[in-house]
Amino acid sequence: MSQLLQKAFSPAKLGTLELRNRIIKAATFEGKTPDGIPGEALHKFHRQFCDGGVGMTTIGYCTTDPDGRVNDQMMYMGDYVRKPLGDMLADLKSTGARVSGQMAHCGHFSKNRKLQRLKRPKGPTAMVNPLGLTVGKPWSDAMTEKDIDYMVSTYYEAGLMMKEIGFDAIEIHFGHGYGLSQFISPKTNKRTDRYGGSLENRMRLPLRALEAVRKAVGDDFPILGKMGLTDAVRGGLSRDEAIEVAAHLDKGGIDALITSGGTSSYNVMHMFRGDSIAEGMAESQTNPIMKAAFKFMGPKMFKEYPYEELYFLEGCKRVRDRVKNAQLVYIGGCHTMESLETVMAEGIDFVQIGRALIKDPDYVKNAMVQQSNYVNGCTHCNRCVTTIEVPGGVHCPLNIKQEQVA
Ligand SMILES: Cc1cc2nc3c(=O)[nH]c(=O)nc-3n(C[C@H](O)[C@H](O)[C@H](O)COP(=O)(O)O)c2cc1C
Ligand code: SF4
Repeated sequence: MSQLLQKAFSPAKLGTLELRNRIIKAATFEGKTPDGIPGEALHKFHRQFCDGGVGMTTIGYCTTDPDGRVNDQMMYMGDYVRKPLGDMLADLKSTGARVSGQMAHCGHFSKNRKLQRLKRPKGPTAMVNPLGLTVGKPWSDAMTEKDIDYMVSTYYEAGLMMKEIGFDAIEIHFGHGYGLSQFISPKTNKRTDRYGGSLENRMRLPLRALEAVRKAVGDDFPILGKMGLTDAVRGGLSRDEAIEVAAHLDKGGIDALITSGGTSSYNVMHMFRGDSIAEGMAESQTNPIMKAAFKFMGPKMFKEYPYEELYFLEGCKRVRDRVKNAQLVYIGGCHTMESLETVMAEGIDFVQIGRALIKDPDYVKNAMVQQSNYVNGCTHCNRCVTTIEVPGGVHCPLNIKQEQVA
């Protein structure tokens, strides 16, 4: 095995936590928590990555608050998940893998029918919420300072609970157009108070959330942050400002930064590259208006980005060169052994992998045996992205077709 692959597949420390290798299953919201309850489907999904050898798996979108859910089928970190999630974590960890939870809040980007505290979703600034059109919530309101304080308290409470029930690490979502990213981005944050305007002000809430989680989990517990390298939309977070976001998070005591890009709200294909999700989205919609919207407007809604390996490498390297203490986690099209070697050669500490692990949950095991001959088989068709809300949740339709042929 080459020295670089050897490095990727050898134990490494994330902060104070040792992982058995440097491969982390990326958060890919599973769509496997019917009525918000974590059960067997979610468990089985993650067990396959743990059995397949990943150093750590990440449970996607653990919202800090019931109203922080993009839809009402997502789970939130309330007392009701303590037992089922705690049992699940214990089993997953018995494989030797570590388990992280992605801590998130949707802000105004919501189609949650079952809002509890709020009448309408809230973000930094009152604006149209296109995602809420089909559930009768087409507007969002601006958060008051009281709302902001409340949101911070939910990060603290979620942090306490996630550590108590057995998560090994927490990944705070600062990107992709969700709650904290809405504050960071000048496109969605038009506030004129101390939470808007300069980058320092726009970072105030995200840094308060980080501080709250740190206070909850203590200094020895790894906190990762998933951030955007750019919103890739006019008026959004620019590449240069994103580097300063990284510097703020580094100074705020984040242990590791995961450098993604694009947003689910404005430019989702920037995050993925490869085939457009327009057709798959049209097929998977049950609401006839949304179906028609994706069918006829889909090709215009999603920008085209041909797939290439390591599409966020340059941005990740800029962050690596800017931060003083944080470790780096590469994400975005690291699907070949050659790419894995390149990331290791750049001194980037860990790699998060999404689609290639959905395609082959035994990626790590297989790659360790086959080494440079390992071929993953993900075609970057992005059909899995459109399975998020279909019954049964996320899967690779290509695998099912292959099983049917066999
Ligand atoms: C089905 C699916 C669901 C996803 N859900 C999330 C999510 O909940 N949170 C998140 O930060 N990223 C999410 N992503 C993005 C991935 O974490 C990752 O950033 C992206 O897939 C690029 O990495 P890859 O090339 O290894 O797939 C999702 C990706 C897929 C394919
Ligand atoms: S559906 Fe399968 S082949 Fe297509 S991008 Fe997802 S994992 Fe890869």
